[in-house]
Amino acid sequence: MKKIKRSGHIGILTSGGDTPGLNAAIRGLGKSAASDGSLQVIGFRDGFRGMMENRSERLDNKMLSGILTLGGTILGTSRDKPHKMPMGGKTVDMTDVIVENYYKNHLDVLVCLGGGGTLKNAYRLSQHGLNIITLPKTIDNDIMGTDVTFGFDTALGIATDAIDRLHSTASSHHRIIIVEIMGHRVGWLALGAGLAGGADAILLPEIPYTIDKLAESILERVSRGKRFSIVAVAEGAITREGANKIRAIEKKMDDAEDEQRSALKKQLKELDAEYRGSTIKMAEELQKITGLETRVTILGHLQRGGTPSAADRLLATRLGTSAIEYIKNEQFGVMVAVDGERTKPVPLEDVVGKVNYVPPDHPWVICARNLETSFGD
Ligand code: F6P
Repeated sequence: MKKIKRSGHIGILTSGGDTPGLNAAIRGLGKSAASDGSLQVIGFRDGFRGMMENRSERLDNKMLSGILTLGGTILGTSRDKPHKMPMGGKTVDMTDVIVENYYKNHLDVLVCLGGGGTLKNAYRLSQHGLNIITLPKTIDNDIMGTDVTFGFDTALGIATDAIDRLHSTASSHHRIIIVEIMGHRVGWLALGAGLAGGADAILLPEIPYTIDKLAESILERVSRGKRFSIVAVAEGAITREGANKIRAIEKKMDDAEDEQRSALKKQLKELDAEYRGSTIKMAEELQKITGLETRVTILGHLQRGGTPSAADRLLATRLGTSAIEYIKNEQFGVMVAVDGERTKPVPLEDVVGKVNYVPPDHPWVICARNLETSFGD
């Protein structure tokens, strides 16, 4: 096979919500490239928007130094998509400009650090002929094809610490405390932190709950002399009623014509808004049914902030350095996935648009059920 002449220029950007470990990955990739001597890394600011505006700079040793332990991303990030870029009050397809800037910078490859949304955008760019590699980052751990994503471990630690702290105040006041945990549409964080923190009930998007079953489990605790309860609820948790309604619309969508589909999509959005993330409403109902004083703590972006854990630093560094090996081997159009102690290249088309949900019979779920943790089902 004839080798194509390469420039040795590697573009890198971080896109989507920030995640602890992003800087460790940038550093791993940058230092590993520098050790080769023939490779140069160009960082684009603020995700695809910065690439569209050609805001970039060379990631030299000075920029890569001292960032291993830093939270956030030194490159900045945004949720802007190449094909739907907000521009002066309108949404414009700027894919061609991004492709043009790829060539202007003489890139051999663009490395995109991101979650599910970034994967989709990166895949689209690969369909436009660009060499793409992605790294799986998100606190949600919702990417298929990889054992885990970086950022998850740090967020898990923060959420677990929060549950630990909430225990003493819940116990002192004999209250129910509901702690809302991020995770978008999946329940890995709530499940992991709920188990590690010893929550009495865990509500996940994958296991729809009813408020009556949840109340029942709390009242049962009361009957055993337990005067407080901690409920770990994933932000995407949903009631059985909501889940059934959503499933019915999704079924209709399968055989709907294009016109009907957009109306159904709108209905789905409305149902989502009504039934998901309604932790405060849930707390009010729970208080009413149980007669127990109930409080809510929403952890929100605290879970994404600050220093990455040792496990995330290690993982992100491994993924960053692996990316350079893939680049040297000209393995493009892939995600650098975690496979035990190794990494493996997973074709983007195999994972794009897929979501790594918690299987309802996952060992962590079984473990929690063995502890008599309620899932409200
Ligand atoms: O995907 C990471 C995540 O933190 C989700 O857990 C959460 O739903 C979302 O991002 C929040 O997004 P934003 O930072 O844009 O509010």
